[in-house]
Amino acid sequence: MFTLKNFVLLFKNLGHNEYKRFILDSIQVAKISSLIAKEYPILNHRNVYVLGLSHNVGHFLRDFNEILSLKSMEEIEKLSKTQIHSLASYYLLKRVRFFDEEEIESVLYHHSDFSFENKTRVIGSILKLADMIAHEFSRIETFDDYAIVLPNLWRKIERLKIPNTFKNTVIEILKDYKLIETLIDDDLHLELLESSIEIPIEIDSSVEMAKIMSLMQGMRSYTTRNHISIVARVSQKIAESYLGKYDGKILKIAGYFHDIGKLKVPLKVLHKKRSLTQEEWILMRKHVVDTSEILINSGLKYLAEICAAHHERLDGSGYPFGLKGDEMFCYQRLLQVSDVYSALIENRPYRKALNYKEALNFLKSEVKRDRLDEKYVNELENLVKSDSTLQRASFEDVLEDIFEEDYKKIRHELPEVVSRLVG
Ligand SMILES: [Fe+2]
Ligand SMILES: [Fe+2]
Ligand SMILES: [Fe+2]
Repeated sequence: MFTLKNFVLLFKNLGHNEYKRFILDSIQVAKISSLIAKEYPILNHRNVYVLGLSHNVGHFLRDFNEILSLKSMEEIEKLSKTQIHSLASYYLLKRVRFFDEEEIESVLYHHSDFSFENKTRVIGSILKLADMIAHEFSRIETFDDYAIVLPNLWRKIERLKIPNTFKNTVIEILKDYKLIETLIDDDLHLELLESSIEIPIEIDSSVEMAKIMSLMQGMRSYTTRNHISIVARVSQKIAESYLGKYDGKILKIAGYFHDIGKLKVPLKVLHKKRSLTQEEWILMRKHVVDTSEILINSGLKYLAEICAAHHERLDGSGYPFGLKGDEMFCYQRLLQVSDVYSALIENRPYRKALNYKEALNFLKSEVKRDRLDEKYVNELENLVKSDSTLQRASFEDVLEDIFEEDYKKIRHELPEVVSRLVG
């Protein structure tokens, strides 16, 4: 269902508001690193491109050490800020089975000293160098800047303590004016990757990619980060038990993305403590349309259909289209149930969380009013009885969702990973 191209496009389409600069920088690093990697047959330049795009995703967990209660650990003290986000990127990407181990480990070293001793360190050094080049390129606004920045950059690279062959490869790339054009605009230039970008991504890695991208929402809004993670979990569980395992995974991805359009909602509206004005409601409700647009532009029309219906209701009273029950399919109806339930058991800026029994009672009253699908509400009620993780919206569960089985391992194996990192 998902291809690598979908995720690459999605990454670009998430570049709104506070994230615009972040995404553009990542795109530059992706292009530059894959051009360098292409010169080395042992490297997969397409994978290096994706690593370039995602090497800084650890920033989405800016409080990585705090949320894992690692702060008290002596090892963490040895790390600089840049090393902490490298570590966070490493743990996030580790779960995406699309990369091989050496590729994933390379992100650990993208701020370390240059080293070319093995494939991991070569990719790490390419990312570091690409970062440096991208930074210089970000200063080019006119052709006059271009004439100053490029020669400076050549000289800078000349002075680096890196092997001459590597140095020359990079300078050759920077002398190719056709490539330079590719590097100074903000486009993804997927043609650099040829058709290899169309490969399917297996479902478990798709879930991980979706999770990583959805974490971007958490950088600006903790409320939203917790919400999407809870909706993803509740949706997955209902779908798994009522429909099937694979459906559970699709619904989990839908949970991660259903509110992604909130990236465009102003924070003063998103986090407002009092009720919204009419104008603010318009901005808030627009998140559904933005969610749909972001997903459609990434080639994910089916996912867009599932996600865009989460505020619709069976009696036609929902938004944005006022769809009626028979116009909606099972995944859409299921997501509506899990979205309402999750929202109710969460603390919100304007109200306290309900306990799960009150939340279920509310869902049942919605069923009576013909607004929510009874079978998914019943299924949820059965599940909640025996699964305490569905009874509350806890931060602990959000973290377990992010790292899954790695969550308990991280503290344990951290000293060893840190010693590799600080060398
Ligand atoms: Fe970085
Ligand atoms: Fe929503
Ligand atoms: Fe939601």
